[in-house]
Amino acid sequence: MYKKYKIVRKVKESSLVYSLYLEPLDGAVTEPFLPGQHLMFRFTIPGSDIPLFRYYSFSEIYDPKFYRVSIKKEGVVSSYIFDHLQVGEIVEAKGPQGTFALEVEKDHPVALFAGGIGITPLLSMAKAIALINPARRVALFYGVNDRDNHSFKEEVSALKAYPNIQVHTFYNNVTPADVAGADYDYQGFIDLNLLHSDFKDAQSGYYICGPAPMMHFVENSLLERGVDANQIHMESFASLAAPEETETEVAAGAEGDTTGKEAIKIYYNREGRELEWDSRYRSILEFSEAHDIEIVSGCLFGDCGTCLTTLMKGEVKYMHPTMIEPAAGDCLPCSCVPVTDIVLDV
Ligand SMILES: Cc1cc2nc3c(=O)[nH]c(=O)nc-3n(C[C@H](O)[C@H](O)[C@H](O)COP(=O)(O)OP(=O)(O)OC[C@H]3O[C@@H](n4cnc5c(N)ncnc54)[C@H](O)[C@@H]3O)c2cc1C
Ligand code: FES
Repeated sequence: MYKKYKIVRKVKESSLVYSLYLEPLDGAVTEPFLPGQHLMFRFTIPGSDIPLFRYYSFSEIYDPKFYRVSIKKEGVVSSYIFDHLQVGEIVEAKGPQGTFALEVEKDHPVALFAGGIGITPLLSMAKAIALINPARRVALFYGVNDRDNHSFKEEVSALKAYPNIQVHTFYNNVTPADVAGADYDYQGFIDLNLLHSDFKDAQSGYYICGPAPMMHFVENSLLERGVDANQIHMESFASLAAPEETETEVAAGAEGDTTGKEAIKIYYNREGRELEWDSRYRSILEFSEAHDIEIVSGCLFGDCGTCLTTLMKGEVKYMHPTMIEPAAGDCLPCSCVPVTDIVLDV
């Protein structure tokens, strides 16, 4: 169910990132969340006559009075938020939800790898451990492009005061104005050699969120060091596919374009509803959501399997490569669109 939230603060965190502080409009307490989870927002913005769904992770620890999400200006919706949404306005969101989540009370060391805006869920994790489980070891690796894009500088720096938390900030581009040890710790790419020997514990957890090349690099480096793949958790804010790959995939699916062709229908078996597919939606999941048919989701990029659905009839095409490979007769509605009439067991 979507709830309405009032924007009570809008705070600039860096040149392209704003945080929104959201209070439930009905005055109720906020639903608790696990650090790492996100809200699914439904926006109606000028210039779009369909609802646009976007997902924003909690960037703060849980507070019963408000949520904080932090948004980087990128495309249609985030630019609208950045340029136009103001304090006092109302937004709609569903959740908390998501499978990228940390159990704060556990004891094993946890290493957090953030690239750019990927800091949001990991900052929530680090702050929650600092507050709730101060005995647990944390190593936070934060890759930043440059000083202008250094979001949450003071908040991340304040974590260094906790004896159980190590923070390593890396700047890609250092200028003469930047002070090593104050603005940043290291120049260049995230360096896993800084991982403390505590992380030899086989139960240590590794959480990665950032641009695709950074995520692949950290994941591969961890695997090369013998880390069990089950201990590595990743959240993509965009498809993990390399850009060229994504373009090829989407182009390869271009024959599925329905413009000028007979309308494609989706039949929802358990709902007993038939709807005409609208190719302005990015996925079957978002199309269904817009028509009040819920398909439970986790990662939204084909990586977790939460949305796995029986495809009883018809064919779909994937908009990007997915880590989960659905068996014949199944599909991942978060990542595909129909190319023929389909029947879903929903
Ligand atoms: C679980 C999750 C948590 C996120 N948390 C944050 C956060 O804390 N802060 C933040 O700034 N952003 C976050 N994002 C990204 C955010 O949801 C938007 O994708 C981002 O703001 C860009 O939206 P836009 O409308 O501005 O750009 P668009 O106009 O949508 O363009 C951006 C590009 O991203 C691609 N894209 C993005 N999402 C999808 C999708 N679901 N399916 C297919 N293609 C997609 C499009 O191909 C497009 O090329 C998160 C995403 C996910 C999935
Ligand atoms: S929501 Fe994770 S695979 Fe679809």
